[in-house]
Amino acid sequence: MKFSRSVLSTALSLALASPLLQYIPDQILASSFSFHSSNDFPEYALATKEIDPASLGLDTVSQHSGYLEVKSSGENLFYWAFESRNDPSKDPVVLWLQGGPGSSSMFALTFENGPSWFNNPEITPVHNPWSWNNNATMIYLDQPAGAGFSYVSAGGTAARTSKEAAKSVFAFLTLFFEKYMHLPRKIHISGESYAGHYVPQTTLEILRTTNKTFHVESMLCGNGMTDPLNQYTEFSVYGCDSQASGVSPALYSNETCQQTKAAQDRCIPLIQKCYDTGTNADCSYATSLCNAEILSLFDNKKNIYDVRRPCEPSKSGTCYKESDYGEAFLNNQTTRDAIGAVVPWKANNRTVYNDFTAYSGDWMRPDSVRAVTEILNGYNVPVLIFAGDKDFICNWLGQKKWLDALPWDGHAKYLKARERPWKVNHQSRGVLKQFGKLSFLRIFEAGHMVPHDQPEAASYMLQEWLTETLGIWDYKDYEWGHDGHHLK
Ligand SMILES: *[C@@H]1O[C@H](CO)[C@@H](O)[C@H](O)[C@H]1NC(C)=O
Ligand SMILES: *[C@@H]1O[C@H](CO)[C@@H](O)[C@H](O)[C@H]1NC(C)=O
Ligand SMILES: *[C@@H]1O[C@H](CO)[C@@H](O)[C@H](O)[C@H]1NC(C)=O
Ligand SMILES: *[C@@H]1O[C@H](CO)[C@@H](O)[C@H](O)[C@H]1NC(C)=O
Ligand SMILES: *[C@@H]1O[C@H](CO)[C@@H](O)[C@H](O)[C@H]1NC(C)=O
Repeated sequence: MKFSRSVLSTALSLALASPLLQYIPDQILASSFSFHSSNDFPEYALATKEIDPASLGLDTVSQHSGYLEVKSSGENLFYWAFESRNDPSKDPVVLWLQGGPGSSSMFALTFENGPSWFNNPEITPVHNPWSWNNNATMIYLDQPAGAGFSYVSAGGTAARTSKEAAKSVFAFLTLFFEKYMHLPRKIHISGESYAGHYVPQTTLEILRTTNKTFHVESMLCGNGMTDPLNQYTEFSVYGCDSQASGVSPALYSNETCQQTKAAQDRCIPLIQKCYDTGTNADCSYATSLCNAEILSLFDNKKNIYDVRRPCEPSKSGTCYKESDYGEAFLNNQTTRDAIGAVVPWKANNRTVYNDFTAYSGDWMRPDSVRAVTEILNGYNVPVLIFAGDKDFICNWLGQKKWLDALPWDGHAKYLKARERPWKVNHQSRGVLKQFGKLSFLRIFEAGHMVPHDQPEAASYMLQEWLTETLGIWDYKDYEWGHDGHHLK
């Protein structure tokens, strides 16, 4: 069922009468949304809105926003999409999922890879020449319900694991592609941090569904938490071994190193137990104990997302003063009216965080790393893991370790693959390790939020990834001193 904007008033009365749309909350019905739903998908509807680009000044491209409405759970998931600056009808579509759990994707939109940055107290959008929508349509989705502008209707229940959350993301994409028919039905699933859980599980959810109406082309994730069993041994290495981490002098004193190692020795068997049993009790216990004992040892005057920097006070506790400007923009009523956000914005949601940690222990669950194995072995879909080398919390040593340990058909050959410099415009900006469909890119002088710290490198990375030219130059080219193949 589809209602056009021109028949909105009819749409509203129809909506109230239609059993398909009866569950939609009043505040959504009262806003100027159009509704799209599908008889194949009676559990869901998409509330959509076309944003006048001039109203907010973030970009000149076509922009769409709205909510996915989930009938069974009362979840309302907010999204904001920016069409490609190049050719929306041909360029691929990229979904961005923020971490947390419970953090908003609007954080990346205003602070990392969106069309404008908010980096000044005047809250003026500043054009981002390295925006990820340069050659792709970007969708920023606030999920699970409760994150960002998303919310749960009275009496509803929010997803409490990444697996549950992935089902709504699949429904969202189905309705989004049906609504915006001019976009190619090809999606790349991307994200950061806790999205190390969401990205592989969403990708797998889509791949496993046979009667879908769009294709998933790849998954890519920056500084993700994907395989805690392997990642949680690397805090002591990153904090204490300068040679391994590349951070000198070492972050930790001898005493903190001893404490961290001892805490890891207590923690790892608990994560192993979570991997073995998969019960809420075992997984939530591992999450609470490991995070309380290991992460609390990090000096909170420093920035856990970027060891080069102090933790600056900020309203949302991100450690970046600048993030307050994005928050001011998002919570300004003019902005909310333009995008149809019916609830106030919050950078993080404690309830979602607690549900994924203290309740279900999703944080420590093995489903994400197992999903990556299935994505590679079962579907041969490309996987890119990238990591800023100055992040502590999801540090690159942990990424390297879980990828080296990953069970998949290319395991032995990936292990043997040589690390190669990755260059942008003749300059070494990182190190790439690749075999078959698996790529690991470490990016120099970047923390947890790679597109914020190294916007140019992150933009080249995305562009090469989308055009399948990341690392296409071979060893010989490199040994001959050639510069390799780069766009521009
Ligand atoms: C796919 O098929 C299942 C079972 O027939 C159905 O429940 C579901 O709605 C279908 N999905 C789509 C996107 O058509
Ligand atoms: C990316 O966009 C620019 C213009 O914005 C265009 O010149 C270039 O060809 C595009 N690249 C690809 C690979 O589509
Ligand atoms: C936080 O998320 C929960 C769902 O887990 C939701 O019920 C609640 O309304 C959200 N809090 C805020 C302030 O939006
Ligand atoms: C820390 O440990 C190293 C090696 O174990 C030792 O060489 C160094 O003297 C110790 N430093 C302090 C301050 O104890
Ligand atoms: C909200 O944004 C508008 C437009 O940029 C601006 O005029 C207004 O002062 C802002 N309101 C607040 C409370 O900052």
